[in-house]
Amino acid sequence: MPGTKIKAIGLMTSGGDCAGLNAAIRAVVSHAIQHYGWRVMGIHDATRGLMSRPLDYEELTMNIITGNILRLGGTILGTINSGSPFSFPMPDGTRKDRSDEIIEGYRMLELDGLIAIGGDGSLDILSRLTEQGGIPFVGIPKTIDNDVPLTEFSIGFSTALATAVEALDRLQPTAASHDRVMVLEVMGRDAGHIALNAGIGGGADVILIPEIPFRMEPIAQKILGLREAGRPHALVVCSEAARPVNGEAVFHRVEGGKRYGGVGQRLADEIAKATGAETRVTVLGHVQRGGMPSAQDRIIASAFGVAAVDLLASGATGRMVAWQRRQVVDVALSEVVAQTHRVDPSETMVRTARGLGICLGD
Ligand code: F6P
Repeated sequence: MPGTKIKAIGLMTSGGDCAGLNAAIRAVVSHAIQHYGWRVMGIHDATRGLMSRPLDYEELTMNIITGNILRLGGTILGTINSGSPFSFPMPDGTRKDRSDEIIEGYRMLELDGLIAIGGDGSLDILSRLTEQGGIPFVGIPKTIDNDVPLTEFSIGFSTALATAVEALDRLQPTAASHDRVMVLEVMGRDAGHIALNAGIGGGADVILIPEIPFRMEPIAQKILGLREAGRPHALVVCSEAARPVNGEAVFHRVEGGKRYGGVGQRLADEIAKATGAETRVTVLGHVQRGGMPSAQDRIIASAFGVAAVDLLASGATGRMVAWQRRQVVDVALSEVVAQTHRVDPSETMVRTARGLGICLGD
């Protein structure tokens, strides 16, 4: 039987949650148990579960494979998106490298491999950690931002996108009824994939993404042009990290980095000033992360989960499952963490937006 050297594996979710994580957990657990006869230990709250003493985990059995887990948002294992174990913030304000404690926790559980569902930041940390501990490791990409390199889709993106499109569908009639300009601020951190795709799918007139810095003039011209053509309302989608030419994104500093938010209101104020239009702002926020996963997220999560188990069984390590050209492949984590996947201003969807006459602010 393949994969017989392995008797038990660890499974964790790491980084910001998104829809489809539970579908991936379901796939890993059912394939590992049914096909390989492995035991699966679900680690709670990512690396924190292996850092805790006593260890914080649960054995995942076929009991979790109810019909519901496939549909469930969030993650039944819990997750964290702050506090690198290599420089962990301690209660007394100091920082400590706690990577050895996590590796020791893994050994205490007598595991033969680890699968983690995470974004690029988490996969970077885990790939260093598992290399340090000589731990067989396979990653599964997830993030609503869809910015994990070398995979066309990450778990969570499709659901977040559908949510943003639905928001535009709901904003359009109210914009038209009141002759207003509606600004929708969406997530995505440094990548504009959600804004760009939602704007196209949801019929936006203006799409602003971090990769294409904007000027107010073309945006105002677009809105005034629509009004002259007999349409006194408009839809504007902006990515949370969209920024003006020669300006900065709107953010505030938090432990471990930046938290974006607020550009929508600034834009709405500027648009009102430049065009005289009445403006309103909707900040979609974490609504994009929760809720039932879309069909595509469930399907991709299922395919990734099964493939990740097969990869571990084959003896692979330091790999990430990825979606490329309609199939699951695997790529080196060292290559994933060395790159970023932001919107390329010459890519198809940017050309599509321009072709539709959508203003990109440049
Ligand atoms: O990376 C996913 C994401 O939702 C980003 O789009 C967003 O900027 C960030 O996480 C929000 O993080 P938090 O949940 O810590 O507020």
